Amino acid sequence: MKRKKVIIDCDPGIDDSLAIMLALSSEELEVVGITIVAGNAPVQMGYENARKVLQFLGRLDIPVLIGADRPLKRPFVNALDTHGPDGLGDSQLPLVPSDAFSQQPISAREFFEKVLPCGSVSIIALGPMTNLAVLAKQSPEVFGQIDEIVSMGGAFRSHGNCSPVAEYNYWCDPDAAAIVYEEMDRRSKKIHMVGLDVTRKIVLTPDLLAYMKRLNPETGSFIEKITKFYFDFHWEWEHLIGCVINDPLAVAYFVNRDLCRGFDSYVQIETEGIAMGQSIVDKMHFYRHSSNAVVLTEVDTFSFFRLFLTRVLRLSEEPDLLGQILRC
Ligand code: RIB
Ligand code: CA
Repeated sequence: MKRKKVIIDCDPGIDDSLAIMLALSSEELEVVGITIVAGNAPVQMGYENARKVLQFLGRLDIPVLIGADRPLKRPFVNALDTHGPDGLGDSQLPLVPSDAFSQQPISAREFFEKVLPCGSVSIIALGPMTNLAVLAKQSPEVFGQIDEIVSMGGAFRSHGNCSPVAEYNYWCDPDAAAIVYEEMDRRSKKIHMVGLDVTRKIVLTPDLLAYMKRLNPETGSFIEKITKFYFDFHWEWEHLIGCVINDPLAVAYFVNRDLCRGFDSYVQIETEGIAMGQSIVDKMHFYRHSSNAVVLTEVDTFSFFRLFLTRVLRLSEEPDLLGQILRC
C-alpha cells in the first residue's frame, strides 16, 4: 500500500495528542513531521507536549517544528482552562530530555518549504491555521503544492464552543482561517472542514476508557492520565460524562473518507465583530460562488471508535464495542 504523506499541524493539546497517537498507528499514513502552532497551549509548550507523546510512542524520530507563537492579528488566547496548566491534562509528564531529541534547527514554515515541493504531501490541521496562512502569504507557490488540507475547525449548524457561533481553532485566529479558505478558493481547491457538527458526536466515555485500559493497560492508562482533566472540564461546563475528542476524527476521516458525509460549499470565515471566527457555510448557494470546502455534517461514530481503538491500542482484532459498551 502506498502510504499517504502528511504533516500534522497542531496545538497539543489533549485531543491533538490523541490524534497524533492515531496517525502514528495508521499504516496508511507516513507522518513526515509535526508542526506546532499557538492555540490550546503556547507554542513552546505544544512543542514539548508533542515530544512527550512521541516519546511514549517510541517515535522521537518524527521531527517536531515550531511555528507561529501568536495569531496573525488578534491577541493570543490559549485554551489551558480546557487542556490543563501543562496543556496535557495536568499530567505533568516529564520533559523529553534534549539529548533524546535534537531540537529541529528550522521553523515550521521552513519545513513546509522544504517538504511540500516534494509533492503529494497533505496537511491535517488540528489547531488555529496561523502556520498555513503565513505559508500562503509568504510562499504562495509552496502553499499551492499542498495536496489536501483536512481541518478540524468551524461549525455549520452546531453551536460554537468559543461563542454562540465560533469554534476555537477558527476563533483563535480568524484572520488565518479566512486567508486559508480564500487561498483554497483562489486555487479552486477544497478544504475538508471537520467541524463541530461531526466532532461533537465523538465522545470518549468512562466506559470506553475502562475498556481501553483492559485491552491495552499501558496505552489506556496513558490516555486516562492525559484526559482526566478533560473529563472534569466537560462535566463542569457541559454536564457531559465523557470528553469530546475532536482532533482524532480529522485523522480518521483523512484515512477513511467513508466515516463522514457532507456537501461541497462556499465557506467564508468572519474575522471581526460579534460573529468573529464563524464559518459561514453558503449551503443554499446565495453567493453563486464555486465551492472551496467539503463541509462534513454526519459521522459514523461507531466505526470511528472501532478504528480508533483498534489502531491506538494496536489490537490484533477489532474490539467488541457492541458487546462491551452497548451490550446489544
Ligand atoms: O474546537 C476544538 C479544537 O480546538 C480542537 O482542535 C482542540 O484541540 C482545539 O485546538
Ligand atoms: Ca487542536
